Amino acid sequence: MKIIKVRNYEEMSDIAAEYVTTLIKEKPDTVLGLATGSTPIGLYKRLIKDHNENKTSYENIKTFNLDEYIGLDKNNSQSYHYFMHEHLFKNININKKNIYIPNGFAKDINKECIEYNEKLKNNVIHLQILGIGSNGHIGFNEPGTSFSSEVHVVKLDENTRKANSRFFNQINEVPTYSITMGIKNIMEAKQIILLASGNQKANAIYDTIHGEVTENVPASILRTHPNIIVIVDEEASSLV
Ligand code: F6R
Repeated sequence: MKIIKVRNYEEMSDIAAEYVTTLIKEKPDTVLGLATGSTPIGLYKRLIKDHNENKTSYENIKTFNLDEYIGLDKNNSQSYHYFMHEHLFKNININKKNIYIPNGFAKDINKECIEYNEKLKNNVIHLQILGIGSNGHIGFNEPGTSFSSEVHVVKLDENTRKANSRFFNQINEVPTYSITMGIKNIMEAKQIILLASGNQKANAIYDTIHGEVTENVPASILRTHPNIIVIVDEEASSLV
């Protein structure tokens, strides 16, 4: 586990963007695993800036998102489809057919899980970007999720719903269920970059780096990944 401590969110985003753009330039058919939430927004801004200024091309890049809420259609402004479109995809030259996000509005969610899992099996993710929940979740794999889990439906923790309610008008609008890549899917990525910024992530980062590897802290499994970089700012690494 390589740990890079930086001063703040801006530096974290700069370094993450440097890794991603370097890889894409070397390997124009990279398969990226992507996250939503506040953490990667700065990274996505920098990827867009680099695309505009340096013409880095996403024509042959494929992306797989970690998760999606169940019950929100793709055009709902709180869906992760919408988030990704707004924060990244509409601003780069990615081919729509190369974008994969679980469909949380599928009629048959179990079938959607199986199909998304199949797609992941048929594609190796070269670089997975991760954020972390203050309870140590990765994707929507909440504490207690099996390390051998694949794509599945999750009942969200009340803490996670509370944390995510900042994007909604009120907490009862936050969906109760989501579909997520499992921990096994995440661990199959060739390389992982975990990003964390802010005080509220300090305990989770401490547990991930120094605690026991336990299903009670889903991110702790990342310590066993052969190629993981953790980019943490001063606040998130204050206990490390
Ligand atoms: C999002 C995801 C989540 C977030 C985590 C942190 O696709 O998988 O695990 O990375 O909840 O969220 P933020 O970045 O909003 O603090």
